[in-house]
Amino acid sequence: MNQAALHMLLNRSSCGLLQVPAPSGEVLEHILQAGLRAPDHGHLQPFEFLIAEGDGLSRLGDLLADAAEKDGLPADTITRAKQMPQRAPMVITVVAKIQKHEKVPALEQELAAGCAVMAMQMAAQVQGFGGIWRSGPLMFSRALHASLELSELDQIVGFLYLGTPATSLREPALVESKKFTRWL
Ligand SMILES: Cc1cc2nc3c(=O)[nH]c(=O)nc-3n(C[C@H](O)[C@H](O)[C@H](O)COP(=O)(O)O)c2cc1C
Repeated sequence: MNQAALHMLLNRSSCGLLQVPAPSGEVLEHILQAGLRAPDHGHLQPFEFLIAEGDGLSRLGDLLADAAEKDGLPADTITRAKQMPQRAPMVITVVAKIQKHEKVPALEQELAAGCAVMAMQMAAQVQGFGGIWRSGPLMFSRALHASLELSELDQIVGFLYLGTPATSLREPALVESKKFTRWL
C-alpha cells in the first residue's frame, strides 16, 4: 500500500494564509499536470488555467472590480474585489472550457474542471506549498467572462489561491463515514 498517497488523501487541507514564494518551475508544472490528470469524459480536456502572479494579481483585481461594477454590485464589494487576489502570491482561475457534445453535458465538463482544482491543490500540498479553492458570485459574471476572453458556454469553476503556508496546516478532524453512507 502506498501510505504516503493515502495519508495525503486523508489529510488534504486548505490554507488561506499564504505568502511568497509562489510555486514555480517544475513544482508549478507538476501542479498543472495534476490538474490535467482530472477524470475527463470523452477526453475533451475542457480546461484552461489562467495564472496570475505579481502584476498579474493586480490585473486580475482590476478585472474583478470592473466586473463587479458592471454587474451593479455594492461599492464595498467592488473595493474588496480589487484586493481579493492580493491574498496570495499566485491565483489560478480555473475555467471549464465547455464544448457542445452529445454524450458529455456541460455539467460533466464542469465537474472535470472542479476535479482539476482539487488535484492541483493536493499537488501543491505534497510539494510543500499550500492553497485554497475560492469562489464567489463573480465566477458567474458575464462581464468577467468577457474580459477574460471566455466563450459564451465557458464557466469559471474556481479561483485557486496558491503560495507558501504562513501557518502550519490544520490537521483535519476525522468524520464518521457512517453518517454519510447508505448501503444499497
Ligand atoms: C466550489 C468551492 C468553492 C469554495 N469557495 C470558497 C470561498 O469562496 N471562500 C472560502 O473561504 N472557502 C471556499 N471553499 C472552501 C475551501 O476551499 C475549503 O474547502 C474550506 O476552507 C475547508 O477547508 P479544508 O479544505 O481544509 O477542509 C470552496 C470550496 C469549494 C469546493
